[in-house]
Amino acid sequence: MLKVDDIRVSYGHIEVLKGISFTVEMGEIVALIGGNGAGKTTTLSTISGLLRPTSGKLSWKGEEIQNTTVEAIVASGISHCPEGRRIFPGLSVRENLITGTAARANNKQEIEEDLTLVFELFPRLKERIKQRGWSLSGGEQQMLAIGRALMSRPSLLMLDEPSLGLAPIIIEQVFERIVELNKRTGLAVLLVEQNSAMALEVASRAFVLETGTITLSGIASVLAGDPRIQEAYLGG
Ligand SMILES: Nc1ncnc2c1ncn2[C@@H]1O[C@H](COP(=O)(O)OP(=O)(O)O)[C@@H](O)[C@H]1O
Ligand SMILES: [Mg+2]
Repeated sequence: MLKVDDIRVSYGHIEVLKGISFTVEMGEIVALIGGNGAGKTTTLSTISGLLRPTSGKLSWKGEEIQNTTVEAIVASGISHCPEGRRIFPGLSVRENLITGTAARANNKQEIEEDLTLVFELFPRLKERIKQRGWSLSGGEQQMLAIGRALMSRPSLLMLDEPSLGLAPIIIEQVFERIVELNKRTGLAVLLVEQNSAMALEVASRAFVLETGTITLSGIASVLAGDPRIQEAYLGG
């Protein structure tokens, strides 16, 4: 469904993605793991059209998108839940969710249906529907960021470090919801994480990114047992 083919990306004259390739198939959860500065966020920003590759191809449902606008990419079904959540602190929960619908036709009934889906998934958000973004806990803000990303009706959800800064029990809850959503709706997920243990647990396949190069890839459960992964990413 998504094919990243030999993508190179630079900031100025510093190349941070050095020709990476991978795919995400329909309905799959794929993890992209790697340490700080490896290029994970850059990878997601390039897929969503915020950054342009210097070479390589991106194809999505059979069409090349490396020159497509951010808006058109969202409208075509790729949604990016950014690192650090980036919710609007001054807007209510509902208003934050509505901002996620900007890329598609403003069909009121569809928006209400999508809000219902998000509230089913995250009942906490419904309880806090009128509260401002700033007043939410870290876990609630992450749920809101994911909910907002779902409001564009994606077929691929890209999550950038959803566990960052959250307590272990909240991380469990957020990941449970992501898996549930994937099972129920067939939504494909590209999950970027430094929390490798969690990511490898929920993903079917995984890729390891190290300073702009994919160094290992395979079935997530097999990688979780690989001594190289255990030593570098799972604390031995
Ligand atoms: N806007 C930017 N300008 C210059 N360098 C950047 C910028 N964003 C990220 N980098 C550099 O690119 C590399 C990859 O960053 P990033 O994709 O954020 O990694 P990760 O998400 O894996 O931590 C790092 O060396 C980082 O310092
Ligand atoms: Mg990052």
